[in-house]
Amino acid sequence: ITVRVGAAMSDSAPDLWGLFIEDLNDALDGGLNAELVRNGDFEFDPSERDDFHHLTAWATEGAVAVRTAFPLHPNNRHYASLTGPAAIANGGWHGIRARAGERLRLTLFARAAAPTRLAVALGAGLAGTELDVEPGGWRYLEADLTTVAAGCGELRIAVPAGADVDLDAISLRPLGDNGEPLIFRPDLLDALGALSPSFVRFPGGCLAHGYGLANIYHWKDTIGPRWRRAQTRNIWGYHQSRQIGYGEYFELCEAVGATAIPIVAAGVCCQNSPGGQHAIAESQMDEYLQDVLDLIEYANGGIETRWGAKRAEHGHPEPYGLRYLGVGNEDEITDDFRDRYARIEDAVRRAHPEITVIGTSGPCTTGPDFEAGWEYARERGVAMVDEHGYQSPRWLHQNLDRYAGYDPEGPKVYLGEYAGCSSTVRSALAEAAYMIGLERNPAVVRLASYAPLLARVGHSQWTPDLIYFTADEVRLSASYFVQRAFGSERGERVHAVELEGAEPWTRPVPESGEAHVCSPRATVAFSDVVVDGRPVSDKVTTPGSDGVGLGAIDPTAADIEFTAVRSEGGDGFSLRLGPDDPLSSVKFAFCMGGNRNS
Ligand code: AHR
Repeated sequence: ITVRVGAAMSDSAPDLWGLFIEDLNDALDGGLNAELVRNGDFEFDPSERDDFHHLTAWATEGAVAVRTAFPLHPNNRHYASLTGPAAIANGGWHGIRARAGERLRLTLFARAAAPTRLAVALGAGLAGTELDVEPGGWRYLEADLTTVAAGCGELRIAVPAGADVDLDAISLRPLGDNGEPLIFRPDLLDALGALSPSFVRFPGGCLAHGYGLANIYHWKDTIGPRWRRAQTRNIWGYHQSRQIGYGEYFELCEAVGATAIPIVAAGVCCQNSPGGQHAIAESQMDEYLQDVLDLIEYANGGIETRWGAKRAEHGHPEPYGLRYLGVGNEDEITDDFRDRYARIEDAVRRAHPEITVIGTSGPCTTGPDFEAGWEYARERGVAMVDEHGYQSPRWLHQNLDRYAGYDPEGPKVYLGEYAGCSSTVRSALAEAAYMIGLERNPAVVRLASYAPLLARVGHSQWTPDLIYFTADEVRLSASYFVQRAFGSERGERVHAVELEGAEPWTRPVPESGEAHVCSPRATVAFSDVVVDGRPVSDKVTTPGSDGVGLGAIDPTAADIEFTAVRSEGGDGFSLRLGPDDPLSSVKFAFCMGGNRNS
């Protein structure tokens, strides 16, 4: 074929490709967070998960109790109390691994009734030291360790016979070249940097609006000294130490050369949270609005401002240059949402017209909820709308021209989460094709980020993910290489292109149909499957590429419902109609966490 490149039609969207990061799949603690001690603050709580307790990840020897009297900080109430001879040993995430000659900084707070010497050992002789605790209140202690060999073991802290010592905020971090403890795990940071992102969106996803009102992510809880941060349960079923909080997210943006896109809750928590109030109470809304404005001041204010001064106190006097702010994530467009969103957006527009506020198109990629999200955005003149789309490779190929149909005069699009639904080359190629569709519509699509970004192998709540990792290894998906190619080889202008010798592309009319579910845990209902005007429930098969957990199906029922559990890396579940069944219509729905999508 001959490819003729015509005149440039427009410039590309300058910030188009970026990163979506969420504490999901152990992405942060046990992942990007360089911390080697798990539950160093003793704040894991059974209310977060049945198998959690304040000594999760710790082994104990002798008399060890968890106490809360006169804590280190009201946000860090629990500590370990040892009556010697006794010891506690932390296993990190499946062991604490160290390279030979690695330098590590140990920090902790200790409180003792009398002068006491603590014995610290890493693994079986990998490294060790002693720490002297003076009596009185809580004492901050630190020591640098150098490992004599490579290995994996526990960090053990022992208290001698007769001594009473309280311990809290125990941390062990590798030292960087500048002799300072690392914030981010270097190999993962390198993998993120190599994507050449224009922006980093944080802290989610669903994590931003939280599971219940008490679980909304409040940025002020996550800044300043780590041991003072408010830790909480993670919407994905584990614990958030918040050691990577807003300050670290801004640092991450700088480290990878990207601009920040914080997402704040739109004054409502996730609609799928259990019953009760889903919107921040009227009496607390003024404070919440102020928190949002304070965030902008923390990012951009001069050091003479209250929150700019805080940023300087946290080690960053220069402003971060915030340009975007996301408000809401996949929220259902209820009256409460409209009311809270409008007030937040109005307040930001008034005080900071220089900030682009990004709204949300609601929980779906298509369907009535999605339409409601867009209608509201158009009504209000929202500058940009965050759309999400996890789809099958087939869907991506069939919707390459999706954004050509959008009104270039309407709100712009931030495709905040998207992925083909399997960790396969087929998905990666479909994503690449779809990304070209994003790239060639710069009047509509301004920003896009693949999701989710990071997953610790064996600890994922969502698949597929862009980057998998173990304690020692980073495993890049096929999709990663697509993202890297687009991120590092940026198109600057969009040109008209003519192909000679190629058949013009037309949307294929399928002779066989396929509806595809990509939720890792979904209750799936196929209903009203009609071929040539007659119901064909008997034609429904549910192969699922990995064939697991499909449950019992009555193939003669008019509506078929079953619960499907997909294993990691699977290709989702499919409803397939053979080539002999000319497809006239399929109604297809799935529910996840009580949220109906179609
Ligand atoms: O990326 C995983 C989740 O998918 C996000 O938290 C949420 O926004 C979406 O449903």
